[in-house]
Amino acid sequence: MGRVSGKVVLLTGGAMGLGKASAKALIAEGARVIITDIDHAAGAATAAELSCEFLPQDVTDWGRWQEIVAEVEQTHGRLDVLVNNAAVTVFGSFMDISPEDFRRCYTIDVDSIFMGCKAAIPLMAKGGGGSVINFSSAAGNKANADLAAYNSAKAAIPMLTKSIALWCAREGNNVRVNSVQPGTILTPNVESVIAGTPDPDATRAAFSVAQPIGRMGEPEDIAHLVVYLASDESKFATGAPFIVDGGLSMA
Ligand SMILES: NC(=O)c1ccc[n+]([C@@H]2O[C@H](COP(=O)([O-])OP(=O)(O)OC[C@H]3O[C@@H](n4cnc5c(N)ncnc54)[C@H](O)[C@@H]3O)[C@@H](O)[C@H]2O)c1
Repeated sequence: MGRVSGKVVLLTGGAMGLGKASAKALIAEGARVIITDIDHAAGAATAAELSCEFLPQDVTDWGRWQEIVAEVEQTHGRLDVLVNNAAVTVFGSFMDISPEDFRRCYTIDVDSIFMGCKAAIPLMAKGGGGSVINFSSAAGNKANADLAAYNSAKAAIPMLTKSIALWCAREGNNVRVNSVQPGTILTPNVESVIAGTPDPDATRAAFSVAQPIGRMGEPEDIAHLVVYLASDESKFATGAPFIVDGGLSMA
């Protein structure tokens, strides 16, 4: 209890999955969490369930990022933690997907992190510092012929994170910036991907053994990492990719 007491957290894509699990864990440890999502109905329902604030947001919209940060400053006077979680997975080899599919993956998964950091870090710095947590993936370390856009977008995030972390260190603004790289985590979205395959049992087994540890992760496995990075316990960590993936990246 209280590991992030009083911290103001802005978390994108909080309506479901790892964003929702992370928001729940942060709230349990005392944070004031504002979740955002493009899915207004699901976002509002999650906010009601977790007793937190919800703001509609398309993370690809630069103007909306600026509005949201201004709104957070007006309501809370500060911002301590930014969790850039929202993303999409675009499936398909480089020959299967269109240039539009490829660009969409990069815009939602990578450009959003650039915009989020650009909009939020000045407010974090104004308040004396903070922590940015950017969601990458083990898919950023391990290539799959049918994940060309997602693999490469997620690989860009740890490097973008390092560049921004170095800038913050040079500024001396006390803002730390790290990335997280989960393995396959059994979220409702992953459940529905499994259910949509011709042989869901075989897919579930394949998804499990892809992790050398022999199983998929639980959303809480990542939520615990987010709490650590949001808290002052991680005050010496910056620019680092945090891999929590059942060994997927090393296999
Ligand atoms: N679940 C996994 O196995 C896994 C593994 C590795 C990395 N990740 C990463 O973790 C993060 C969360 O994954 P998840 O499985 O919980 O995903 P999810 O699809 O369940 O949730 C993503 C959320 O982002 C929202 N979103 C999508 N586009 C948006 C936009 N343009 N603007 C605002 N919100 C938008 C969705 O509405 C949804 O609520 C993602 O960055 C994902 O790439 C997930």
